[in-house]
Amino acid sequence: MTPSDVKATLSFSDGSPAMELPIYKGTVGPDVIDIRKLYAQTGKFTYDPGFLSTASCNSSITYIDGDKGELLYRGYPIEQLAENCDFLETCHLLLYGDLPNAQQKAGFVKLVTNHTMVNEQMQFFLRGFRRDAHPMAVLTGLVGGLSAFYHDSTDINNPQHREIAAIRLIAKMPTLVAMAYKYSIGQPYIYPKNSLSYTANFTRMMFATPCEEYEPNDVVVRALDRIFILHADHEQNASTSTVRLCGSSGTNPFAAVAAGVACLWGPAHGGANEAALNMLEDIQKAGGVERIGEFIKQVKDKTSGIKLMGFGHRVYKNYDPRAKLMRETCHEVLTALGLENDPLFKLAMELEKIALEDEYFVARKLYPNVDFYSGIVQRAIGIPVSLFTAIFALARTVGWIAQLNEMIGDPEYKIGRPRQLYVGSGKRDVKPLAQR
Ligand code: CMC
Repeated sequence: MTPSDVKATLSFSDGSPAMELPIYKGTVGPDVIDIRKLYAQTGKFTYDPGFLSTASCNSSITYIDGDKGELLYRGYPIEQLAENCDFLETCHLLLYGDLPNAQQKAGFVKLVTNHTMVNEQMQFFLRGFRRDAHPMAVLTGLVGGLSAFYHDSTDINNPQHREIAAIRLIAKMPTLVAMAYKYSIGQPYIYPKNSLSYTANFTRMMFATPCEEYEPNDVVVRALDRIFILHADHEQNASTSTVRLCGSSGTNPFAAVAAGVACLWGPAHGGANEAALNMLEDIQKAGGVERIGEFIKQVKDKTSGIKLMGFGHRVYKNYDPRAKLMRETCHEVLTALGLENDPLFKLAMELEKIALEDEYFVARKLYPNVDFYSGIVQRAIGIPVSLFTAIFALARTVGWIAQLNEMIGDPEYKIGRPRQLYVGSGKRDVKPLAQR
């Protein structure tokens, strides 16, 4: 962190002495005011529920400019990565700080590929779940369960353990997601086939059966690979902050990532792709494009509790750059699969157009986010709606683990322990039961 020449001064109207606070500059983006000594010097905390103005850490992984609608992984624009790189190159970039050259790429692909299989015993663990369990419930359990199977990579303070846990998580997530899916539909698990690429292997584990030969479809593989790249990291979002906070206690990486999976599940975060698709299907069933006006009216009515899912973002106050790329992929996939007249896609485009012109959305700078279109792509390639968020989790695993490793490697890191403004009852005495 580079100290700024400018200092902030905090003064109080009750005559308490003023305090000078250092300011640091990042490479780009807003400066931060360092309040670490505030409590010790003034006896006061800051108050920022939802972290609207709080940088919880310094990081050199991902940068978002929400006003411009810009997303950079390690300095590279997401558009260039989506065009020129595959997901494993992106993983290398996020984990180690730079894109691999050809030799490094070959080594990294080999390393990840060597870890695609999961301990055979995990099948029996999976069988304990109901077949109709939500895939995110299953995945939270399976990822947490990895810590029970890979004891040689659970010491978060050991850099070798962290490295091997990172590779295991990236390599095994597709296998676990596909196993959860196969279990839910009563089909046999398909073991990984290491001659295939990371993403082609995932499509095979998802869609192949032991009875027939399976040939991965290039368009589907490219689309999924792009979904993985676009979801790989997004700085200090809710699930990433959860992973950091959970990992800050010194717990093992599998447990910390399981906490991230659980957080991602919520409809305000990763669960939005499932919620957005369900919303489009509901509007379609209710009459399609003709019903958009009425639906938008409900969304604008604050008492309805209805939100336009796949719209809005805490950081982006402009078009989410990932949504632009996803929209493009949506066109490509639907055309290649002969689904260009897909009514849900048409509905989504119409809904987007109307919302972007509506004063409510314009005034609040609400634009489509990545999840507005990713559900349509996934549905077109045969992924069931309930599995959408698990696909997001698969892709985000590299971001979680890169952020976790960055935190543990930071000499200034401490256990995360927010404080509070207590507004409950003052101290009081317990009365015996008969007198209460
Ligand atoms: N539909 C209708 N109104 C909305 C929406 C929406 N999707 N999003 C925000 N608003 C309104 C909100 O009611 C508030 O209005 P007012 O100022 O009148 O009270 C205003 O816009 C500001 O919203 P906010 O709730 O203060 O914003 P936030 O930063 O706390 O929430 C969000 C961000 C993503 C949780 C929210 O926009 C949302 O719930 N969107 C729908 C769910 C969604 O698509 N989530 C996926 C996010 S991208 C994928 C990911 O990273 O996980």
